[in-house]
Amino acid sequence: MTDDTATDRLTELAKRRGFFFQSSEAYGGVSGFYVYGPEGATLKENLEDAWRDRFVRREGHMEIEAPNVMPEPVFEASGHLDGFDDMIVECPECGASHRADHIVEDNTDIEEAESIAIDDIEDIIAENDLVCPSCGTDLAGEPVDDFNLMFETNIGPGSSSPGYLRPETAQGIFVEFPRLKEYARGQLPFGVAQVGAAYRNEISPRKGLVRLREFAQAELEHFVDPEADEPDLESVEDVAVTLYSEARQDDDGGEPVEMTVGEAVEEGIVGSAWVGYYLGVAQGWYERIGIDMDRFRFRQHRSGELAHYAADCWDAEADTSPPGADPDWIEITGFAYRGDYDLTKHGEYADDDFTIFKQYDDPITVERATVDPDMSYLGPEFGGDAGAVADALEALAERDRSAFEGDDVTVDVDGEEYTVPVEKTGFAVEEVTEAGEHVTPHVVEPSFGVDRLVYTVLAHSLTQDDAGESEADGDDEERTVLTLPPELAPTTVAVFPLMDKDGLGERAGEIAERLRRAGFEVAEDASGSIGRRYRRQDEVGTPYCVTVDYDTLDDDTVTIRDRDTTAQARVPVDDLPGVVADLRAGETTVGDR
Ligand code: GAP
Repeated sequence: MTDDTATDRLTELAKRRGFFFQSSEAYGGVSGFYVYGPEGATLKENLEDAWRDRFVRREGHMEIEAPNVMPEPVFEASGHLDGFDDMIVECPECGASHRADHIVEDNTDIEEAESIAIDDIEDIIAENDLVCPSCGTDLAGEPVDDFNLMFETNIGPGSSSPGYLRPETAQGIFVEFPRLKEYARGQLPFGVAQVGAAYRNEISPRKGLVRLREFAQAELEHFVDPEADEPDLESVEDVAVTLYSEARQDDDGGEPVEMTVGEAVEEGIVGSAWVGYYLGVAQGWYERIGIDMDRFRFRQHRSGELAHYAADCWDAEADTSPPGADPDWIEITGFAYRGDYDLTKHGEYADDDFTIFKQYDDPITVERATVDPDMSYLGPEFGGDAGAVADALEALAERDRSAFEGDDVTVDVDGEEYTVPVEKTGFAVEEVTEAGEHVTPHVVEPSFGVDRLVYTVLAHSLTQDDAGESEADGDDEERTVLTLPPELAPTTVAVFPLMDKDGLGERAGEIAERLRRAGFEVAEDASGSIGRRYRRQDEVGTPYCVTVDYDTLDDDTVTIRDRDTTAQARVPVDDLPGVVADLRAGETTVGDR
């Protein structure tokens, strides 16, 4: 199966069976916006629930839901207004816009061209005679520019209050930090999660769910005290991970290495123990949701590739090509150590306190240098600048008390120097008692792209049985199977009457209803042969099918069949909800019964 065939097969199946398809097709379709159909919406919801279970509930974090539109000052502070850009090049002939770094990556040996400076990208385009992907026109000499990815809007009528659709859900958490810290009773560490939409006006949306203009993120912002808090590394230190470090990427032909999380942190390959902790937790979660870990790696960002806020970042990447084809790595999660960047920035721009007051075990006595300038001297001497000089003296005393050791002290106010006799500054060193200090928490951020996870889970679970392998189902048709974990499958159990007559249909309906009341997603299907019905459920990943036949009317038992093994067992109807629950939880298998 070629790369394209596999992608096409997935796209075809996704559209035909209601997983996902391009939106507004009646109006020609619009790139970068997708609809989840009935199967896809449930799969996505189940995946988000599995994420919440592991990263919110089990970690003891909180979850919030903030608005999608935020006012401009938020993004001035966050740095997105200035720095959230991709490189764009426009074709002089057909007018199509393209991501310049993608043109370079697609047509040269260069990987991660995003980290290359714009001037160099222009040179690479010219030196390699790169052309417009749409019409083939030479792009040499065409300017490459920065293009800001945020969607702008107006809040209210008129244009006086610009707003933006959030490009990451994270900002909705950072902005609310002053209130969220109260819910955490002012104690670090604490984590706040959000699952929701993010918007980026991507220059070239591509590959269906992989590069969208509206997509879903599941993000966790874990606020920690870098001096005092440590992750529970012990719980994940033996987890084996595949790491593709910056050094390995720079080493020509360097391959990823497998090691434990404990080794990676100890050897400094993963610089932050917190990031190491989340790589370990995530590794187990990816396995749980059905990602093929033989086609998976954690790749460190190269320094030029780091986002404006990140001190270190590792991406979880999955190869979504079929085995044997050229790898097609896509980033499914970013694990960033954001340091104190976000809270410091919002503290500077906003009118609120983005720190935590950290109480000492016992109050401490410290020496503090203070000034009490003689304004009857500063006023006549410096006129309108007297206040600024007094402020500068206060700042200098805090910073460098030795400056006050001579007869005079000099301060700089807006580039001009002012000299003041020390005796007129009221300089003193006094002892004060302090109960604690204000600290700006650091942020550790696992940021999951939900749509890319859905895509990867589908790509990794799509299998094609050869004709003849399905004889247990009573036919030898080739079958397409989505081997989704039962936790994610849109439908847990499908109920079929052998035939829709002699009361079998009614009995099947009652059994389906009973399973629904027990909390399962249930499908019913009475059309076509049983083999056909199995095929239809296999294609959408339904793990269990139940057939109601004439024996059911006699002894109240049904046949349950497993999607992956096609094994079958006879189960009393009264036991069915419990049996399905045990199967779903992995506590038993159909073959064991
Ligand atoms: N708050 C950090 C942040 O937003 P990011 O690496 O830009 O980091 C996180 O995005 C995840 O969101 C990515 O790993 C990816 O899975 C997903 N993502 C980013 N851009 C996307 C797009 N245009 N379409 C679909 N998913 C996207």
